[in-house]
Amino acid sequence: MKKRVHNFSAGPAILPEEVLNEIKDEFSGYQDIGSTIIEISHRDKTFLEIAKNAESSVRRLLDLDDDYEVLFMQGGATLQFSLIPLNFASKNARASYAEIGSWSSKAVKEASKICNLEICHSSKETGFNEIKDLSGWEISSNSKFVHYCKNETIQGIRIPYDPSFQVPAFVDMSSCLFSEDIDAKRYDFIYACAQKNFGPSGITLIIARKALLKKCDQDLPNILRYDMHAQENSLLNTPNTFAWYVAGKMFDWYEKNGGVKEMEKRSIEKSQILYDLIDSGEFYQNPVLKSQRSVNNVVFTIRDSNLEQLFLDEAKKQDLFYLKGHRSVGGMRASIYNSMKKESVVALRDFMQDFEKQYG
Ligand SMILES: Cc1ncc(COP(=O)(O)O)c(C=O)c1O
Repeated sequence: MKKRVHNFSAGPAILPEEVLNEIKDEFSGYQDIGSTIIEISHRDKTFLEIAKNAESSVRRLLDLDDDYEVLFMQGGATLQFSLIPLNFASKNARASYAEIGSWSSKAVKEASKICNLEICHSSKETGFNEIKDLSGWEISSNSKFVHYCKNETIQGIRIPYDPSFQVPAFVDMSSCLFSEDIDAKRYDFIYACAQKNFGPSGITLIIARKALLKKCDQDLPNILRYDMHAQENSLLNTPNTFAWYVAGKMFDWYEKNGGVKEMEKRSIEKSQILYDLIDSGEFYQNPVLKSQRSVNNVVFTIRDSNLEQLFLDEAKKQDLFYLKGHRSVGGMRASIYNSMKKESVVALRDFMQDFEKQYG
């Protein structure tokens, strides 16, 4: 493998070298089938085996029982937050949405075109830096579901506990699934795009209560209906077979490395290294309520914002890449998903310390 940089990309993001090497080896020919994995049918038994194993791993990793359907779909997380109201709150039914960062706000915008939307909590006025406890969200009893994002990738804020609403909980976990130890039974519908924690872009994992899927709008074209995807075992049309295969490898890697509990422990430890430095003085700043800070996306600014470009340029010279904050908010962001080694986080911390010494 060629030299690799410390890759803090928010997504598509870093993958473990072991996984990349395995893929590289298998790309000269998968097992003894005489082809690579991207050259065979999604209905071939070799691929069906890969798909089955990926699902079984997800079930073990998240301790899912038979009440849940596990789906692999295309279209990214954006398609999911567009399909959710279409399937479950069409014909102007009521649905509750929390607006707690950029991604949940995008979901609000799409859903408002489809359902009778109520905002059950908004932290927009406070710059998305603090989220009200879920128990205080105002949700109508006739709401079909409540939707929120567990980890807002752009603002670096998360809800660090599981919900207990009277209505079904639909949650975007794109940037935290497999990094936070959740009790899956407390959720009714989870979705996450792959390109942060389990592979290349082009595949999205959905975990949905089977009973809920019976309520999908039957008037939609089949390709937009979750129940049809479930009925066809996520093979309603040709899936992204390569991304599915890589996702399976990532799930195996999680299982070999201690599972979700271990990933959560590592994520807390890695993020704390950066938060400790940020909080140690006035030079770096993070505006998020401490108890809600993301363990995957650490955002920060420099007191003198004129130094930001210099910071990014100097960081690059130390092989610390992709630290620029999202274009909508600016500042810096270090995304430290499960594949990110602690050494890389320490290298960033050391660089930040040196930069502060020189320019602080
Ligand atoms: C929390 C969250 N939700 C949704 C998305 C959108 O995902 P996609 O680009 O796969 O549609 C992202 C992408 O960064 C995200 O971080």
